[in-house]
Amino acid sequence: MAQKLFLLPGDGIGTEIMAEVEKIIAWLNSQGETEFEIDTGLAGGAAYDAHGVAVTEEDVQKALAADAVIFGAVGGPKWDSVPYEHRPEAALLRLRKELAVFANLRPAICYPALADASALKRELIEGLDILIVRELTGGVYFGEPKEITDLGNGQKRAIDTQVYETYEIDRIARVAFDLARTRGNKVHSADKKNVMKSGVLWDEVVRGVAKDYPDVTFEHILADNCAMQLVRNPRQFDVIVTDNLFGDILSDTAAMLTGSLGMLPSASLGAPDPATGKRKAFYEPVHGSAPDIAGKGIANPIAMIASFAMALRYSFGMVTLADRLENAIAAVLADGLRTGDIAQDNRRTVGTEEMGAAILKR
Ligand code: NAI
Ligand code: MG
Repeated sequence: MAQKLFLLPGDGIGTEIMAEVEKIIAWLNSQGETEFEIDTGLAGGAAYDAHGVAVTEEDVQKALAADAVIFGAVGGPKWDSVPYEHRPEAALLRLRKELAVFANLRPAICYPALADASALKRELIEGLDILIVRELTGGVYFGEPKEITDLGNGQKRAIDTQVYETYEIDRIARVAFDLARTRGNKVHSADKKNVMKSGVLWDEVVRGVAKDYPDVTFEHILADNCAMQLVRNPRQFDVIVTDNLFGDILSDTAAMLTGSLGMLPSASLGAPDPATGKRKAFYEPVHGSAPDIAGKGIANPIAMIASFAMALRYSFGMVTLADRLENAIAAVLADGLRTGDIAQDNRRTVGTEEMGAAILKR
């Protein structure tokens, strides 16, 4: 049965890097390895220019009906002054909300060929393979009240509210433990239970879930210590599960251990459908639309291609194919090919298309 992919290239380099994924999909289909059915929509500035909104209802419906959404990047100076509700990023927020993707997966992998490009020493970073599982739809970014009150006499008060309910913690913890079983079998849960009630509940619920996974090693870690340990000795971690705020910071920290923004994929997963067991899923590179290099054909397509590899792995269970694609990326890097963002002396600097073609060839 054909599997439905909905592609939203977006703006700027989004269209350039998505083109490389499309070539990979076309090749896989032509080899009979996959039967992907492709539909493409507009998101961000591209949708605003065509329809006056960041994403149309029709495209939201297509995203909901797809087996996986593959998203490029949105935004750019051209749309800096469009009405707030139609700004390019509104497309992302709308899609994440409609798909209810509460689990954000951000791998931090050190490709051996790039180990010397890390801020850390090679012996600390080589072989690094961590997965940060961040709760994406709750916590302090969404809790009410969220306001700034004028107190008079020149003073104001700002309030953000951290709210978590048991079910939100339980479901993200289960995602983390399930994933750990497919990897290094270890979960660290990061919170601040020493100073936050939400941390106390977080820990209580995660510990309860851990009992259902006796085969997975579970460790609690305070979030600030986790940040320190990520930089001190990152290879002690396998899966780290944490809330929205700490996950935002810890995933960016872990990401930068491995090099360029242009290398970093992500997946966002929803709850399994009770009837089919399938999760809504949204795959995108971590970086934005890079207006400074857009249109030049020099963007690094690896984050986008690796995001597609995550789709193969997590939405379609095509683990071997995902491994092959990730190995192809590693091989091309080992061959010495570099886009400008990861350029190194004595290595050949190539453009987006050449990098994509080399990965496909591998
Ligand atoms: P950015 O991630 O687009 O770019 C930051 C720097 O990294 C730039 O120098 C860029 O050239 C470089 N870079 C990023 N991806 C690259 C790649 N694949 N290959 C080579 N170099 C790469 O972040 P920035 O500049 O803060 O934002 C630019 C636009 O993107 C803004 O409109 C912003 O709102 C939007 N944005 C969109 C996101 C999304 O669609 N998920 C996420 C972040 C920003
Ligand atoms: Mg962030």
